[in-house]
Amino acid sequence: MSSLSRFYNGKAVVLAPMEDVTDAVFRELSRDVGADLCFTEFVNVEGLLRGCRNARRKLKLAPVDQPTVIQIYGSNPERLAEAAHVAESAGPVFIDINCGCWVPKIAGRGAGAGWLRDPAAMVAMAKMVVANTGVPITVKTRIGYGPESEMPIVDLARRLEDAGVAALTVHCRTAQMGHSGAADWSWARKAREVVSIPVIVNGDIKSAEDAKRALDETGCAGVMVGRRAIDHPWIFREARALLDRGETDPGPTARERLELCMRHLQMNTAERGEPYGVRVTRRHLTGYLKGLRGAAELRRQLLFSDSLSECLGILSEALPHAEYAGASPAPFAASALTADCGLDDGLSTI
Ligand SMILES: Cc1cc2nc3c(=O)[nH]c(=O)nc-3n(C[C@H](O)[C@H](O)[C@H](O)COP(=O)(O)O)c2cc1C
Repeated sequence: MSSLSRFYNGKAVVLAPMEDVTDAVFRELSRDVGADLCFTEFVNVEGLLRGCRNARRKLKLAPVDQPTVIQIYGSNPERLAEAAHVAESAGPVFIDINCGCWVPKIAGRGAGAGWLRDPAAMVAMAKMVVANTGVPITVKTRIGYGPESEMPIVDLARRLEDAGVAALTVHCRTAQMGHSGAADWSWARKAREVVSIPVIVNGDIKSAEDAKRALDETGCAGVMVGRRAIDHPWIFREARALLDRGETDPGPTARERLELCMRHLQMNTAERGEPYGVRVTRRHLTGYLKGLRGAAELRRQLLFSDSLSECLGILSEALPHAEYAGASPAPFAASALTADCGLDDGLSTI
């Protein structure tokens, strides 16, 4: 039995690594609403080995921040192996190698999905990282670079398992697809069928029903949720209810939505100070406020303030009257999946 099956137990619901999103604060919030396992943002190995401030921030795992996976990326096998060894001391449950980021400034330099252009090199790199690291090494990748006639993911899964990789996450698109087109979960099933390590299916899981359907259709050990969690972290609670008890969670109450806005703003500001802490929370607020009566006006007011106390004032005033505008909160509307994630570094659609 794989050493990771205690995490990937056939119904694990995992928070995807997302640059500028899955920091310590967002991991805590996601875990509080049911995420079983959380990934960090990806960490550049050169930054990590040089001890850059951003890399150090990403590597810092508080004792309660568990179980968390640190994800690293780079194009040089020796540097990846060295970085994985350093990252071990931060105490992650395992270390994941990003072989799926399609963004040109990363994949174009041979890191991320760039590895998919040379599967043999990817396997050799994974083998080297495994050999030099004391915690399990996992890989997150895509079905192929695109547009191969036969996707390499199935053969790759087999070879990565042979290289000692402990689990594999499959984002069911090619690198060339970026985030467009539908994720084809059947590739995760095909990969899962040829290996005994856990395979986690990723791509377009936007609701509890999607999570269940993805697990049923693929037989995977877990599902990984990315963009939907940004505006609707309650997806973890909803998925847990459905997967564990066969129940439909009614979704967050109107009050819960406002309270999450307040808590996220407070936590981000405690972590990063004002005004940055307020600004980085904004990308979540449209989603958190979704369906509420007066949401548009609230959003407008919040977008115009960089001050925590002002934002909290606006939200506290709304709290006693919190209610949904319509009968149905429409919890599964996928507004954020194609929306701008609020990032301005060109990585918003990794
Ligand atoms: C804002 C943003 C940042 C991302 N950053 C990373 C990252 O650091 N590492 C990674 O492997 N994937 C990253 N991704 C990709 C997601 O982990 C995930 O594979 C992708 O969004 C598909 O899942 P989804 O359809 O549930 O969003 C990012 C995606 C988004 C939207």
